[in-house]
Amino acid sequence: MRIDIITIFPEMFDGAFNHSIVKRAQQKGHVEIHLHQLRDYSTNKHNNIDDAPFAGGAGMVMMIEPVALCIEKLKSEREYDEVIYTSPDGVLLNQKVANNISMLKNIIILCGHYKGIDERIREHYITSEISIGNYVLSGGELAAAVITDAVIRLIPGVLNDETSALSDSFQDDLVSPPVYTRPAEFNGWKVPDILLSGNEKLINQWKHEQSVLRTRERRPEMLGE
Ligand code: ADE
Repeated sequence: MRIDIITIFPEMFDGAFNHSIVKRAQQKGHVEIHLHQLRDYSTNKHNNIDDAPFAGGAGMVMMIEPVALCIEKLKSEREYDEVIYTSPDGVLLNQKVANNISMLKNIIILCGHYKGIDERIREHYITSEISIGNYVLSGGELAAAVITDAVIRLIPGVLNDETSALSDSFQDDLVSPPVYTRPAEFNGWKVPDILLSGNEKLINQWKHEQSVLRTRERRPEMLGE
C-alpha cells in the first residue's frame, strides 16, 4: 500500500511514523508513506497556501491552487483509490472504515487547516472525508497519523502474529477481554484461575464471555442495546 500525505507540517509525523509497528511495516515493504509539503505547491512568492474567505468571516481558507497542483501531480504518476480529507465533519473513523481503507492500494490524505478548504477542492478532488472524533483538533495532521496507524496494522503481514489484529477490540464488534501476565499473584491480587488451567476451549469461552460483558458495560451501543 502507498499513502501520500499532503500537509503543511510534515515534521509532525516524525514520531508517529518512525517507531514501532508503523516503522517496521515500512521497513518490511508493506507500506510506503510519502509526505508532501503543501507550501512547495504554492503559486505565490510568499509561499502562502491560505487566503481570506470571500464575503468575509473569521479565519483563513486553504486555497485551491496548491492543493490542486499537488493532487494533480500525484494523480499523473499513479492511480489513487481514495483522496481522503481529514475533517471534524467527516465520517467517524471506526474499525470497519480502517479495514476498508487497508484493502486499498494507493491513497492520498489531505490534512485540513484553518477554517477549512475551498469548497471546490471537496467537490472535485476529495472522495471521502474522515473525522477521528467529535472534537476539533488544531489541524488534520494528528487525524491523518491516527488513520494511517489504524490502517497499517491491518495490512496482512504487518503484525507478526496475524491473529493479534483479529483479536483487537472492535474487530468482531466487541471490546477485548482483560489480559494478564506474570506473576500469577501480586499483593494477593490473583489472575483468574481459568487462564492458568491450560484448557483452551474453556479459556476461549471465558474470553468471549468477558468481551461480551465488557462491551455491555462500556460500549452497549456496539451491541445495539
Ligand atoms: N481536523 C480537526 N479536527 C478533526 C477531527 N476531529 N478529525 C479529523 N480531522 C480534524
